[in-house]
Amino acid sequence: MILVTGGAGYIGSHTVIELLNHNYQVVIVDNLCNSSEVILDRIKKITDKNFKFYNIDVTQKDELKKVFEENHIDSIIHFAALKAVGESVLKPLEYYKNNLVGALTLFELMKEYNVNNFVFSSSATVYGNSKICPIREDFQLSTTNPYGATKLMIEDVMRDLSKANENLNLAILRYFNPIGAHISGIIGEEPNGIPNNLMPYITKVATGTLTELSIFGDDYNTHDGTGVRDYIHVVDLAKGHLKALQKLEQNPGLITYNLGTGQGYSVLDLVKVFEEVNNIEIPYKITSRRPGDIDMCYADPTKAFIELGWTAEYGIERMCQDSWRWQRNNPYGYEKEDHFLDMGTC
Ligand code: NAD
Ligand code: WQD
Repeated sequence: MILVTGGAGYIGSHTVIELLNHNYQVVIVDNLCNSSEVILDRIKKITDKNFKFYNIDVTQKDELKKVFEENHIDSIIHFAALKAVGESVLKPLEYYKNNLVGALTLFELMKEYNVNNFVFSSSATVYGNSKICPIREDFQLSTTNPYGATKLMIEDVMRDLSKANENLNLAILRYFNPIGAHISGIIGEEPNGIPNNLMPYITKVATGTLTELSIFGDDYNTHDGTGVRDYIHVVDLAKGHLKALQKLEQNPGLITYNLGTGQGYSVLDLVKVFEEVNNIEIPYKITSRRPGDIDMCYADPTKAFIELGWTAEYGIERMCQDSWRWQRNNPYGYEKEDHFLDMGTC
């Protein structure tokens, strides 16, 4: 049985689909603070498979214990976290508490219930302002915001746990910029309020919910002056988790991989491809840089290819088509129209 925390979220739901399609037994724990129960029915519809669901906060050890009592957990994939960089600067305590206590609670329960396999959602944010691209796993790590700090701290805890207990098999997966959605168009990314990230913003402009995209700066040291990132299809990312789980079965101890395509695209590149493949115009204006943004960030994914046999299959065109199919079919996400006006956070 695989415990998937945050399995109702964007990346978690896509990963649960891959797990179910590969006949894994799944139990999801999610407190739905950034997701909707509707997703659970949609996962069932896509896979025609069932799974267990607990509406539990992973920081609440007594409640979480019940999941370990009632199920034989072999491995954990830990997605549950707060993830908005800007919000983490405004609400550091919420981020440190939710993300750190959640992970520590899971590590304690792993010890108590003899669970040795754990996959962690880390992020390219742990490379800080890397001056060199493509980024390799052995590059220096640093953070520039509380969200990133929680990721790096949990990685550090994992490195220490691994040194202290050779029975543990721990995977750190550093995601680059996940976009796209399941081909069915019935699950996808739906952030609360006005999106911070580029693709959800573009799709909201495409639906007409937002009038135009602001491109944050055109004076970066890149081919067209706009920021370059490594966008990766969420289904490719989900598949990377299955490869990591398989690797953990070989008792490798601690393993760390970048999950990216290795290709960098600028903001303008992404807008142009989105417009072309979806035949829709995205009005935009160039505004000032967003504080904290860097010129360029893309992965060297060679290690995951060699050691996991994983490589991203979907290109940028498909990412843009799938993001739009999801948003076009669900302009207000999983909820009714007023969901978009609900600016509440976890
Ligand atoms: P998401 O917000 O869609 O999913 C996270 C899920 O965790 C949500 O369903 C939320 O309700 C749940 N959750 C949060 N705190 C919880 C708690 N205390 N107890 C139980 N459930 C809780 O986010 P996502 O984009 O799917 O991200 C998943 C993971 O990947 C996160 O750890 C995130 O930091 C990491 N990550 C995301 C990105 C990205 O750009 N989306 C990039 C790198 C890393
Ligand atoms: C991409 C590019 C912006 C919005 C963030 C987190 C990172 C990881 C992934 C979790 C940049 C530009 C954006 C807009 C724009 N998440 N942009 N107008 O900042 O690379 O990464 O998400 O771990 O930690 O920092 O992603 O999608 O916000 O931005 O011009 O309205 O799009 O400046 O160049 P980012 P993003």
